[in-house]
Amino acid sequence: MLKKHSSEFSVFGNPINHTKSPYIHWLFSKQTGVFHSYDYTLVPLDKFRKFIVHFFLFQGIGANVTVPFKEEAFLISDELTDHAKSSKSVNTLKKLSNGRILGDNTDGKGILYDLQRLKFIKKTDNVLVIGAGGAARGVIFSLLSYGCNVFVVNRTINRAIKLVNDFKKFGSIFIVSRKNIKYSSFHLIINATSNTQMNSYWNSIIHLIDRKAYFYDINYSDNTHTHFLSWCINFGALMFSDGLGMLVSQAAYSFYLWHGIFPEIDSVIFQLRKR
Ligand code: ATR
Repeated sequence: MLKKHSSEFSVFGNPINHTKSPYIHWLFSKQTGVFHSYDYTLVPLDKFRKFIVHFFLFQGIGANVTVPFKEEAFLISDELTDHAKSSKSVNTLKKLSNGRILGDNTDGKGILYDLQRLKFIKKTDNVLVIGAGGAARGVIFSLLSYGCNVFVVNRTINRAIKLVNDFKKFGSIFIVSRKNIKYSSFHLIINATSNTQMNSYWNSIIHLIDRKAYFYDINYSDNTHTHFLSWCINFGALMFSDGLGMLVSQAAYSFYLWHGIFPEIDSVIFQLRKR
């Protein structure tokens, strides 16, 4: 049975009960004074299209989309931004005044905003991205557009080749094998892999990297460091961050798409850490 929404905004996913998005958007609403009712929707795996159509047919104005529906959201969008087109995935939907649904991907904008906020990134930096799945695809367009040289290392080489071929029209992007990492110099390392327990794989990469580089995990953890960051810290990394700031920044870009106001994010990150 389809859920009857009382909110004009919602995040759709499965699972979804862990989501921090309603709290983040509540803080944005409080901070900006923009009325913004936002809840969450658990979607059965085969019912995403049905739920979205129903939501926008009635009171829906904007939606966020999370695992595992981002590719499906890309397919059902009537119009797409450049970020959505390049990543082939959508995490933000907006009902336009003509009734068509616009799909955007704010993950890449969110990570770039957070990396700049942390002063972890400069134009022309060499950035090593670990992983070549959906999460990596979500962030690479922004890194290339900013002017970075992106290097991709991935367990399955064919996936890395496909990713590099898809993105090379946007900037300077290369595959790097694990054994060649020691011959390159990276300013920033981004973990975009999904598995939280990959210690031996990360070790084979991290011990070859200058510990003065910046280390960023797109994942975040509530109570402690993420597994990836724990591993980097053991190795001697000095400058590191998890992806909580990316989470808040990508939400801020969604809010901006819907309301035309970009919320201040530091206080929201502070509230989430305190929680
Ligand atoms: P997501 O959409 O979250 O990125 P995904 O598309 O399944 O999920 O991609 C997961 C990424 O984590 C991939 O880069 C994957 O490597 P493969 O392409 O070789 O599968 C990586 N990954 C997952 N488990 C891994 C493991 N045990 N060791 C190394 N890489 C792993």
